[in-house]
Amino acid sequence: MADSQRHPFLHGLSKHRGAPPTVVVIFGASGDLTARKLIPAVYNLGVDNLLPTDFHLVGYGRKEIPDDEFRTLAADAIKEFSRRELDDEVWGRIAGNTTYVAGGYDDPEAFVRLADHIAKIERQVGRDVQALFYISTPPSVFAPILRNLGASGLAGKHLGQPHHAKVIIEKPFGRDLASARELNGTIRSVFEEHQVYRIDHYLGKETVQDLLVQRFSNAIFEPLWNRNFIDSVQITVAEEVGVGTRGGYYEQSGALRDMIQNHTMQLLALTAREPPVSLDAESIRDEKVKLLKAIQPLRLGPDGDVARAQYAAGMIGGKPAQGYLEEEGIAAESKAETYAALRLSINNWRWQGVPFYLRSGKRMARRVSEIAINFKRPPGTLFAESEKFNLAGNTLAFQIQPDEGLSLILNAKIPGLETRTQPVKMNFRYATTFGSNTPEAYERLVLDAMIGDGTLFIRGDEAETSWKLCTPLLESWSDAGRKGMDSYPAGSWGPASADALLAKNQHHWRQP
Ligand code: BG6
Repeated sequence: MADSQRHPFLHGLSKHRGAPPTVVVIFGASGDLTARKLIPAVYNLGVDNLLPTDFHLVGYGRKEIPDDEFRTLAADAIKEFSRRELDDEVWGRIAGNTTYVAGGYDDPEAFVRLADHIAKIERQVGRDVQALFYISTPPSVFAPILRNLGASGLAGKHLGQPHHAKVIIEKPFGRDLASARELNGTIRSVFEEHQVYRIDHYLGKETVQDLLVQRFSNAIFEPLWNRNFIDSVQITVAEEVGVGTRGGYYEQSGALRDMIQNHTMQLLALTAREPPVSLDAESIRDEKVKLLKAIQPLRLGPDGDVARAQYAAGMIGGKPAQGYLEEEGIAAESKAETYAALRLSINNWRWQGVPFYLRSGKRMARRVSEIAINFKRPPGTLFAESEKFNLAGNTLAFQIQPDEGLSLILNAKIPGLETRTQPVKMNFRYATTFGSNTPEAYERLVLDAMIGDGTLFIRGDEAETSWKLCTPLLESWSDAGRKGMDSYPAGSWGPASADALLAKNQHHWRQP
């Protein structure tokens, strides 16, 4: 039997992964994320021949934009932001199926128009089409969009079949536990959980996906991956950029909401989870939730497990950089932290007693995201630290970005006639081994959602568990106002209070 007879969609399948005919509807079509990430992601999937034959793109937004103009905006976005140059042939194919619908987010009639528009596309294609709704708007309109997707019948389109409607929801997913629960409630009143794809773009990064492979396909790591051999773990997500023009958003957010609750906690969950029983989405996500649930509540207050700070004026790349409070749109008495650090304890068999240090900040010395596993030192009976024996603890560091790779610090004998030692670094770099043109996170995530694979997305209970940990801290910071807010010079590795957090356990931050 031919493939196309066995499966009604197979003749519309992409080359490698099998997405059915799809219409992607982007809410927030004239927004920044759409231009920087979403349109280039769709385009690059087209270049790699990974879009289904019957692929349609619909922009939706409040602004009236004629179809032609939307196509021009999209082409401009590709020229400016895509990792590959605009190829007229590829873009021509996508552009031919790209349209725009203008409408309010709380306007039920506009959603009826959208439903008609999608029905028209189905008639044109001549069969069912999967609708993938991408909500890339400010969070204030998430709920009306979701409700209107329900009321218009779009949320339930083809439900019960593999090509049922799906929804991708951008961050921020709530701003505390209560709002995340409320958002989950709204989502569940309209969609079933298996239709929902909550984005954390860090999960789409190549190196983050490789954590699973590195940890569970190499026999040498698992026996050491526990409190018997590991002394501490440091997870760093440092940025060189400041808030730029996003002051309005950032003032309501701060580093804990913007980076720690989502990206950094995800890196932690992936590093520390138990082996999943299989590679299916639920097994993988179950283990992440189990791990997040084992994290102990943070001790708050001056002697607690946390530090927060704002950047002051300093130097970045040899150029002067202004302090956070001087940036555009920032309140003189701003309470938003641009840096946060946490010391976490995981109360399970594997990790009890191993501190996990998390930090994220803007305007730091260097853009780098890494996970560093620090191993315990061997007994000093043979080689004790001395003038002759320069020794380091073994550190395995996963460099998430940039210079994606993996390094291991070992001690080695310095060649010569006497025994002297020195720490050395073994390095694996993705760019050297595999070349540097790796797909962007959003390419993988948009493709996975089209295929119906939720592995690299956040499940509802996962988002709530992470908020449950962070919310008491957010509340205590909000109550304290600026009291306890430290500062660090732009271009440095963070505030003294974060150093003190580690010093309590005789640890210090790496300078990756
Ligand atoms: C976003 C944050 O989620 O991640 C931004 O809102 C941050 O503030 C960005 O700059 C960092 O992403 P990346 O992929 O550049 O590390």
